[in-house]
Amino acid sequence: MSSSTTLVVHDATEVFTSDDDVIENGAVVVEDGKIVAVGRSDEVTREYPAANADRVVDASGKAVLPGFADSHTHALFAGDRSDEFAAKLRGKAYQDILAEGGGILRTVRAVREASDEELLAAMLDRLDAMCAHGTTTVEVKSGYGLDTETELRMLDVLARADDAHPVDVVPTFMGAHAIPEGGDAESYTEQVVDEQLPAVAEQGVAEFCDVFCEEGVFSVEQSRRVLEAGMDHGLTPKVHAEEFVHLGGAQLAADVGATSADHLLHADESDARAVAAAGVVPVFLPGTAFGLGAEYADHEPFVEAGATVAVASDFNPNCYAPSMAFATTLACVGMGMPPAAAVTAATRGGALAMDREDRGTLAPGQRGDLLVVDAPSHVHVPYRFGQNVVETVVKDGRVVAE
Ligand code: NIG
Ligand code: FE
Repeated sequence: MSSSTTLVVHDATEVFTSDDDVIENGAVVVEDGKIVAVGRSDEVTREYPAANADRVVDASGKAVLPGFADSHTHALFAGDRSDEFAAKLRGKAYQDILAEGGGILRTVRAVREASDEELLAAMLDRLDAMCAHGTTTVEVKSGYGLDTETELRMLDVLARADDAHPVDVVPTFMGAHAIPEGGDAESYTEQVVDEQLPAVAEQGVAEFCDVFCEEGVFSVEQSRRVLEAGMDHGLTPKVHAEEFVHLGGAQLAADVGATSADHLLHADESDARAVAAAGVVPVFLPGTAFGLGAEYADHEPFVEAGATVAVASDFNPNCYAPSMAFATTLACVGMGMPPAAAVTAATRGGALAMDREDRGTLAPGQRGDLLVVDAPSHVHVPYRFGQNVVETVVKDGRVVAE
């Protein structure tokens, strides 16, 4: 027997590798964190006998799929905004709450007051919840600091959380998430560019730079300045685009070669063509539309234009939804995605929206990030909502939740 660590998952009713590629009665083998075999159970276990493995999972009656890659969250936060949920149900608009100093600005106050240890503990609890629901890689944005000190603190907490937790945390700097109280968009944009970004680059944690390109927040020009300055500092752009109005964020994402353009509730067909042609991944966040009672985004023009689409949770105080499986339910029911497309968007699509080519499908060479669900096919993931169908979570070949 070799000295490598081997995990064998065998006799799955279905191995959902990606898209419509499904192997019945399948098996997956992971060695030293990487997938080495995917195929029919009898053939795979002949080459990799279960008896020789360090860990064996009998997946009879169950489906195996890639770990969820959640490419858009603001999951590091403090405070409680449940009263805003009630206010929104009474008809109050999200933007009005923000304009009155609530919403993001309220979370900013709570995060500034929280200690690093409190923030870390909250983040680790949420990573546990996301992991239990099958997320193996998650992007988390800063953006509840809106000053250099607190933005750096948030990013530092994300680095510590990544070290401490098996789920991979992909850190995004989002100093341009809102205009701080008492500030104005123009001078705050300057502050992000001249003060925050150099400090963030020197700290060396953030990989992406995101901006809320939205009416009443950052204009297309201000957003462009932030993203271009971020690129000068080695940060890859992402854009919150066309969430409440059609402003031009999707075209901007295409212009600067962003990795993703996210939300897109008000995007049009020319946005879809520009985004697809530039290789930008459109990220749909149906939980946000669901929580706000808004209309869902139209993903079809993006698919027709040839884009690889992603679905993410947008876990944040305005969308308290850590479950990617639930995001697939909403992608199916709210957006009309077929189940296989929704699961692919939540796995491969999400991985590409985080520049993580090494995960999101089940194929030799990919990371050993996979889920065993307590149901016989991937269709059951969006179909069974309001419960956790994820039974076993494997990250880098190790069982991390069961
Ligand atoms: O992606 N739209 C801006 N940012 C978040 C919401 C953050 C918040 O309300 O705290 C989003 O939905
Ligand atoms: Fe967001």
